[in-house]
Amino acid sequence: MFEELLQGWDGEEAVIRYDAESGAWMFVCVHSTARGPAGGGTRLRVYPTPADGLADAMRLSSAMTRKMAVADMPLGGGKAVLAVPKLPEGEARRRLLLRYGRLVASLGGTYRTAGDMNITPADLDVVSETCPWVFGSTGHGGNSGRGTARGVLHGIHASVEHIFGSPDLDGRSVLVQGAGSVGRDLARDLAEAGARVLVADVDEKQAARVASEVGGELIPAGDVLRTECDVYAPCAVGGTLSAATIPTLGCRIVAGSANNQLVEPEDAARLHAAAILYAPDYVINAGGVLQLLGLEERGWDEAELERNLAGIGDTLRGLYRDAAARFAALVRLSHGSSAPHEALGNVYDAVGLTDLAAAERQRAHQIAREP
Ligand code: PHE
Repeated sequence: MFEELLQGWDGEEAVIRYDAESGAWMFVCVHSTARGPAGGGTRLRVYPTPADGLADAMRLSSAMTRKMAVADMPLGGGKAVLAVPKLPEGEARRRLLLRYGRLVASLGGTYRTAGDMNITPADLDVVSETCPWVFGSTGHGGNSGRGTARGVLHGIHASVEHIFGSPDLDGRSVLVQGAGSVGRDLARDLAEAGARVLVADVDEKQAARVASEVGGELIPAGDVLRTECDVYAPCAVGGTLSAATIPTLGCRIVAGSANNQLVEPEDAARLHAAAILYAPDYVINAGGVLQLLGLEERGWDEAELERNLAGIGDTLRGLYRDAAARFAALVRLSHGSSAPHEALGNVYDAVGLTDLAAAERQRAHQIAREP
């Protein structure tokens, strides 16, 4: 299983360790060091099988490569997954994190870690006892969820502006899927901006808590996709957008923090065909990277950080405007031809959106084959 997965992956190296004391599998995937040492978070999760954990680490590390490039950071992409039989607590958790820190330290700085699902700044404090390559511990950049949430808020404003003509969120409905460290902050900021906030989580108690905190509405986890709303903000696990789910969506915009929201690159074209605006995940969710690397490496203060987080909105505005203008012009010029899609693919490639580029090329290919 591992062998097959690794052979189909375009990353540089993967480290696999089995930890007998906890029953955990540790997967450290270094996708690319072309821009610098690989940076990414550590995800702690229970997976159906260890291979699912490795597959997640591989995909997440590729997303980090794109995210670092879009955020213009001098780092490559990597990611680590601790696939555990159940979420560890207390001493057992501490010992696992210390051993994990030793593993990352042994890589000599090739992979540098922050947090991801189920890993807090306090956990990263423990990892940093045995590893010098840690971002986001309590004394340093802290919880990257707040920067991620703030970047997504700017991205939602920009996306709403593109579709409705004004960035104003007053009365706009936004469904936040996942009430964790990003979703909770985002729900609060959205409510403050006057949005109608809908909250869902697989942990319904947590969703209810956050919904009542922000004066939002609770949505059953199973109803998320079909719920009518202006913006769907996936802020939990990835893979919610696919050939099967896209036709059922009740939203006009997808703009959220989850990594790897598309099951396959062609889903970008499916969203386009369904007239749903999609904020590419690795563009809109780069706020955590900006927060930790900005504060820890670049010496930014909070004001400088906020300017850069607002830049996520500007990046998306530019992207939407360029794409729409170029595409409209090209379609006018050559009706029924594959050229516009090829050209848009080149535009996407030029700004590093390789999966959107692939989707356009696929469309161009289809048109070229149609009689
Ligand atoms: N969980 C964060 C993300 O996916 C991980 C991260 C934050 C990595 C900050 C590096 C720096 O973006």
